[in-house]
Amino acid sequence: MVKTTISVIKADVGSIAGHTCPNVKMIELAREKLSEARDSRMIKSFYVYSIGDDIGLVITHDRGEDNPEIHGLAWNIFKEITEKISKPLKLYAAGQDLLKDAFSGNVKGMGPGVAELEFEERGSDPVIVFAADKTSPAAWNLILYRIFADPSNTAGLVIDPVLHDGFIFEVMDLKEGKIVRLKTPEETYDLLSLIGTINRYVISKIYRARDNEPAASASTTRLSYIAGKYVGKDDPVLIVRAQSGFPAVGEILSAFAIPHLVPGWMRGSHYGPLMPVSFKKKHNIISYFDGPPRVIAMGWQVSNGALVGVEDNEPVDLFDDPVWDYSRELATKIAFYMRTMGEIMPARIESEELEYTSLPKVLEKLKERFLAPEK
Ligand code: F6R
Ligand code: MG
Ligand code: MG
Repeated sequence: MVKTTISVIKADVGSIAGHTCPNVKMIELAREKLSEARDSRMIKSFYVYSIGDDIGLVITHDRGEDNPEIHGLAWNIFKEITEKISKPLKLYAAGQDLLKDAFSGNVKGMGPGVAELEFEERGSDPVIVFAADKTSPAAWNLILYRIFADPSNTAGLVIDPVLHDGFIFEVMDLKEGKIVRLKTPEETYDLLSLIGTINRYVISKIYRARDNEPAASASTTRLSYIAGKYVGKDDPVLIVRAQSGFPAVGEILSAFAIPHLVPGWMRGSHYGPLMPVSFKKKHNIISYFDGPPRVIAMGWQVSNGALVGVEDNEPVDLFDDPVWDYSRELATKIAFYMRTMGEIMPARIESEELEYTSLPKVLEKLKERFLAPEK
């Protein structure tokens, strides 16, 4: 049976009013290019979204993960948007995430973020794509632990016999570029030992233990590791399959109810709460201290290789429920509180992360003035 692949490829290639949001012409150009690809049968369906200053392409196809044509299509779209719109209009940080010049078959390591999931469609296959702005892949660690390993979040881990068998977490060591596979519930404490160190260990994939069925896939790009300096936040994406032997949509969303602190926010250098927002209500306009960091949730059915939404391919805006007003209020309170600490840790991120900003220059300047204390 032909498998379906969902590829989510995103980039910040310029925005309006600083790092706030893209120009609508950029979204239109992406739609036009993806429509051509669909009409020529290269891809099955697509959806173009934006969150904060990022544009994301959700593409379904049958070419598998890491496919050079699909990656090339996305890369060329971001290039064309930069050349035809961002640069001529002098948009802010035009082409920011396109860190390399020559495309060599895969966008990984070139700047854009990517999450992909290939699977055999079930009788009915609900999926959710999450996209965050002003944060890094570290943002998903606690969320994915809650969804797939914490029975106080996901009742199905206790109640549904399929979920009860647990999940296999693929954890990536971002510094070494290596992956370790850990099985929950048996290795839960080992998993937590690693993923508690959010800047180094991030969850890249999750499989259902009973049959190795792919359950979730997250982007792991760290722009600062590619560029060797701070160029903007990674703003990760996440694909999660739901229902019938996977966590229910409501269990998946519950993990976002109490906003947790994630690295990013202003100048990529502060901890702030991850606020769940609606994309329809334009809650994704970044304003307070360039944030706070936020996340949108788009829900579809995947049917015969294509995205089916509320109207055509328009996804359900899953954080557009009054229940999330309370989470947003809580996030606002946490954000205001964190700002009372200014540049003092733990409001500001760890010094190793600031290596990519001005801290090394300050240390260099003061080097000669550090003296041994007088006896
Ligand atoms: C965060 C982000 C912004 C900028 C900040 C300064 O991801 O992109 O918070 O870091 O607005 O931007 P520049 O240095 O471009 O003035
Ligand atoms: Mg930006
Ligand atoms: Mg961004």
